[in-house]
Amino acid sequence: MIRDYSHYINGEWVAAANGTTFATVDPATEEVIGLVARGTAVDINEAVTAARAAFEGVWWQTKPKERARLLFDLARAIEAAADTLAELETRDSGKPLPLSKKEVLSTARYFEFYAGAADKFYGDSIPLGPDYVDFTLREPMGVTAHIVPWNMPLNMVGRSVAPALAMGNTAVVKPAEQTPLTALKLAELMEQVGLPAGVYNVVTGFGQEAGAPLAEHPDIDSITFTGSVPTGRRIMQAAAKHIKPVVLELGGKSPHIIFADADLETAVVEASKGIFANCGQICSAGSRLVIDGRVKEAFLDKLIQRAQQIRVGPGLESPDMGPLVSREQYERVLNYIRVGQNEGAQLLTGGGRPDHLERGYFVAPTLFDNVSPQATIAQEEIFGPVLSVLTFHDEEEALAIANGVQYGLVAGIFTNDLNRALRLATRIRAGQIYVNEYFAGGEETPFGGYKQSGFGREKGIDALYNYTQVKNVAIRLR
Ligand code: NAI
Ligand code: MG
Repeated sequence: MIRDYSHYINGEWVAAANGTTFATVDPATEEVIGLVARGTAVDINEAVTAARAAFEGVWWQTKPKERARLLFDLARAIEAAADTLAELETRDSGKPLPLSKKEVLSTARYFEFYAGAADKFYGDSIPLGPDYVDFTLREPMGVTAHIVPWNMPLNMVGRSVAPALAMGNTAVVKPAEQTPLTALKLAELMEQVGLPAGVYNVVTGFGQEAGAPLAEHPDIDSITFTGSVPTGRRIMQAAAKHIKPVVLELGGKSPHIIFADADLETAVVEASKGIFANCGQICSAGSRLVIDGRVKEAFLDKLIQRAQQIRVGPGLESPDMGPLVSREQYERVLNYIRVGQNEGAQLLTGGGRPDHLERGYFVAPTLFDNVSPQATIAQEEIFGPVLSVLTFHDEEEALAIANGVQYGLVAGIFTNDLNRALRLATRIRAGQIYVNEYFAGGEETPFGGYKQSGFGREKGIDALYNYTQVKNVAIRLR
């Protein structure tokens, strides 16, 4: 069944101003599952105007504790609708149903966490001596723009919209064209719990047509973007036009460093999870296995075995791994696999669509050994289930490999030597370090990049700084 989906602007469901739509596809079947409003600058302008009015007239005037209650209610509503949301996410993105469910519950957790912060994020008072009283106000930015990728569609909406709304901002969201459905479904829940019209607006459409006009709109006050480096660069340029602050989260080529003294059984499980979770389509995926040469052979034997046991199939069947999100991504990943082979890396397992699947954008878990640190598949983000194995002989070499890419999002370290773990944690140039568990941390822990992985921090209390600005009030006493 093909359904129609509209924008959500000012509490109304509206078609694109020019009446056009685009198709969103189930990547497991390659079938169209929805026709979605194809937004342009006209729709974006409507949404920004609505968000501005709701900010000035309603949301900023709402007491922080009232905002908190609404957002707590929203968190509960998301949990109550978790199965529906998860199924929709799986159809639209391909992810295994249990993973969709996990991401939906994490979305609820973002709203819960930031609801709790809504009435607890204070300004300061600054001592200037007896003749002055000086304090700071932490005010909302105003209208916040959110340009969202397709790899964790609903979760990334929650990640940035929750802190924005908690601090009194309103939001205009442009979901990815591959996965627009759950951001729209979220609007229904916002309505259900009583969020005022115009606080949360969704304009669906393509990057150039809808994302770009949002990023360069004169009446937004901030932009949060997650996606590729080239698009991030364009967002910065668009933001420069009207001097708007941006938060950029631009992916990575994160090292997972395994020392010989580590608990290798656990490390195999974590390395596998680090690259094969969500079919490798995670900005913080551990896509470079950096391993001590002395344990490499034994480790890879186990890892190959594990990779070959991963059940690949349609997300609705709750496999271990689903398809890639789109035909473009599928071709992109297959191309990287070809490049890896052409550059002389050794393919250990995987390398294409598993034999038992005739259609859908599936790629088997893929491992490459003997990858040189300068090889394309050791340097570029593949965003697929492809792990590049690099060997080191001592800690210095491990560090040099870890830092030897343009990215710096996260790094994993596996060792039982706490001194070594902490030495590396301080010397690796990345925004998050995991020790002895990949993807350790949660909604509470700040997340973001060094180097070309971007700047600004999402998640945790740090994210609240993106959605507030500081005003100092200095009073001379007479
Ligand atoms: P992309 O960065 O082009 O798309 C992300 C979002 O930006 C989408 O909502 C898209 O519509 C929007 N967008 C695209 N062009 C825009 C523009 N000129 N102005 C405003 N918004 C725009 O990423 P794409 O092409 O879907 O994927 C390509 C690669 O990017 C992936 O293979 C992966 O390596 C990387 N990527 C990284 C992500 C991360 O989590 N850091 C997420 C998605 C992609
Ligand atoms: Mg889709």
